[in-house]
Amino acid sequence: MSNLERTLSIIKPDAVERNLSENIKSIFSKNNLSVLDSKKLHISKDEAAEFYKVHQSKPFYDQLCSYLSSGPIEVMILEGKNAITKNRELMGATDPKNAKEGTIRKLYGISIDKNSVHGSDSPDNAKAEINFFFRK
Ligand code: CMP
Repeated sequence: MSNLERTLSIIKPDAVERNLSENIKSIFSKNNLSVLDSKKLHISKDEAAEFYKVHQSKPFYDQLCSYLSSGPIEVMILEGKNAITKNRELMGATDPKNAKEGTIRKLYGISIDKNSVHGSDSPDNAKAEINFFFRK
């Protein structure tokens, strides 16, 4: 398969808390993204700060790190054709208000912080983010 890629997906605390993991995974599988590995965990604020360090200069950084560490998350490796772009299309715009109908954030997102999912935005970040959680 050409362009077979791997990307990291995170189901954020707001979606884990509402038991939406299976619904979200079924959107991935219907769209030919397979879950190669997944785990549920509760990270510390320091770990969230390390994970999101590309955003450290942003005004929302502290709030973002507090939020990702506020409750359990599910992290997974998705694999498929053009997985990085496809996952971002399925997630929709960062702010659920601007997300298209049928996208995960439109269906389930509550706010720009509680936007239910994260997905890697480039091949380099996908490698780094997969490595962060899975050391693969
Ligand atoms: P995510 O895709 O996980 O990447 C960084 C996160 O920062 C983003 O989703 C949002 O949940 C969060 N965030 C909070 N405020 C903003 C903002 N003003 N612009 C972009 N992202 C924001």
